[in-house]
Amino acid sequence: MHWMWLLFLSILSTSAIRLKSDQHTKDWWERAGFYQVYPRSFKDSDGDGIGDLNGITEKLSYLKDIGMRGFWLSPMYKSPMADFGYDISDFRDIQPEYGTMNDFRNQITEAKRLGLKVILDFVPNHSSDEHEWFVKSANREAGYEDYYVWRDAKPNPDDPNKPLPPNNWLSGFRGSAWQWNEQRQQFYYHLFTAKQPDLNFRNPKVVEEMKDILLFWLDLGVDGFRIDSVGCMFEVPANENGDFPDEPLSGTTEDSEDFAYLEHIYTIDRLENVEMVYQWRTLLENYQTQHGGDTRILMTESWSNLDIIKPYFKDIQGHEGAQMPFNFRLITELNITSTAYDFKNVIDSWMAIVDDGYAANWVLGNHDRSRLGTRMGEQRIDSMAMIELTLPGVSVTYQGEEIGMTDVDISWEETVDPAGCNEGIDNYAAKSRDPVRTPFQWDDSNLAGFTNGTGTWLPVGSNYRSINVKVESSVAKSHLNIFKSLMKLRESDTFLYGDWRTIAINEQVFAIVRDLKSSNRYITLVNLGSSSQTVDAGKFVKNISKILIYAIVSGASSHNPGDSVTASNIVLQPYEAFVLEAERSVDRKMRAEICERWLID
Ligand code: NOJ
Ligand code: MG
Repeated sequence: MHWMWLLFLSILSTSAIRLKSDQHTKDWWERAGFYQVYPRSFKDSDGDGIGDLNGITEKLSYLKDIGMRGFWLSPMYKSPMADFGYDISDFRDIQPEYGTMNDFRNQITEAKRLGLKVILDFVPNHSSDEHEWFVKSANREAGYEDYYVWRDAKPNPDDPNKPLPPNNWLSGFRGSAWQWNEQRQQFYYHLFTAKQPDLNFRNPKVVEEMKDILLFWLDLGVDGFRIDSVGCMFEVPANENGDFPDEPLSGTTEDSEDFAYLEHIYTIDRLENVEMVYQWRTLLENYQTQHGGDTRILMTESWSNLDIIKPYFKDIQGHEGAQMPFNFRLITELNITSTAYDFKNVIDSWMAIVDDGYAANWVLGNHDRSRLGTRMGEQRIDSMAMIELTLPGVSVTYQGEEIGMTDVDISWEETVDPAGCNEGIDNYAAKSRDPVRTPFQWDDSNLAGFTNGTGTWLPVGSNYRSINVKVESSVAKSHLNIFKSLMKLRESDTFLYGDWRTIAINEQVFAIVRDLKSSNRYITLVNLGSSSQTVDAGKFVKNISKILIYAIVSGASSHNPGDSVTASNIVLQPYEAFVLEAERSVDRKMRAEICERWLID
């Protein structure tokens, strides 16, 4: 063999080894796609109009089919359903209308068979007032007195028979956060509904109980937890008289019953919450050491600023926290009027808190927030998916987002969410989360194929005849098919290992460039606005090939994957978005590999 040829082969094999070792440093979850299942609304298997565990199990192959690596389940535990499962009366049992423990075991088995990881919602901040701990605590039973946050009434000079709440703290669902308990003759603190008393995390027994619950589900084979309301677990310690200080007024609203009326400096985002997460991380790691298996992961739910989110990853002393402190910035910081500059800021500022060796994550929706298409405009559903899925890191998709489900109009009479009900008829629509929790739209049959019963717990969206899995599967450029191609594309090396860069080309055109020396280069281009735009890719990407290929196009695009375009003259129609591929010439590929060889040697 000619020596040149030998040299070439040896260069190739060196770089292959290098790539492999790179791949080994990525854990299973670091580039995963996760799907959020809201059990009540995903799939009903028994005709009662309420989704259930067997329904979910039946549809796990769908999650696999759309490219998911795992899913997180909103609560399916035993619950009086005051907050649709976020009020748990037994942390170790299943809500009967959702199924049985056996159904859950089957679900784990089926998930494992398909290679899907199962993440449970862990709700440590509060229990139901029907939990036996609360019943015992209200009864001052020995050992349970301090399981919750109890306080005496404030003296009421006007009417000694009418107890006054201990201070001004507010509930996230409106009104005082304090509820009088006749039996115990004290108030208890509840950040959410009065049926969700806050657990007292300053009681070491509570901390132990919650750890035992994690172990219980780990033993059943779950792969991690999404921690609910993580920033709300610890309140300020009481002063020497046992009192809690009032919170200051925020000045942002006149409505003294609204949560936003106060600045929550004593009830939210205390450092102790983060320290608790470090303890749970240790628990998960010890579990893995003892029992083997893949990394168990933590996702945390906090809507706070980046300086609050960052320590959830880790602290400077080296404590490790959640692998995925949820990144809600694409929800909270962007809206229909956002410019390409806003997109760039929101993405870059998040990436700035993700240190080397940690993974970014992107969330476009969940069961608490207006759906993507309603929030950003239906024309931008595909563009947002392109942005989310071509950025580096983990993606989290809320059920129905992939098919472009939008918020459903729910009348006051149909409203069941406590966040809506507590607001009353005039304001319920501003706060209710029912519109984003309606049944999943599987097909165009009656009740969207969600149930074979005669009704559903919330009405089915009126667009279900066209927005559903069945119909969209056979439309080439449907939201679903675009989503699926993106999920496929992001498994390629450039997206797994490549560099990333965001560019605001002008107010209206946003771009993401993904680049990997040894592979192809991709450019996501999004026209956010209603006028067409022309772009010269050479102006923002160095050494770009003259001709680019459309890899994925949005629904309204007149192009097709495989079409080509001249890099210097790319036209984007209103709201059009696409991912373009720039193939590297063999020469450039070889050059890159040779350079790498010199670097290694
Ligand atoms: C956050 C959950 O996502 C929400 O649905 C729930 O109402 C509160 N936490 C209380 O658990
Ligand atoms: Mg059912």
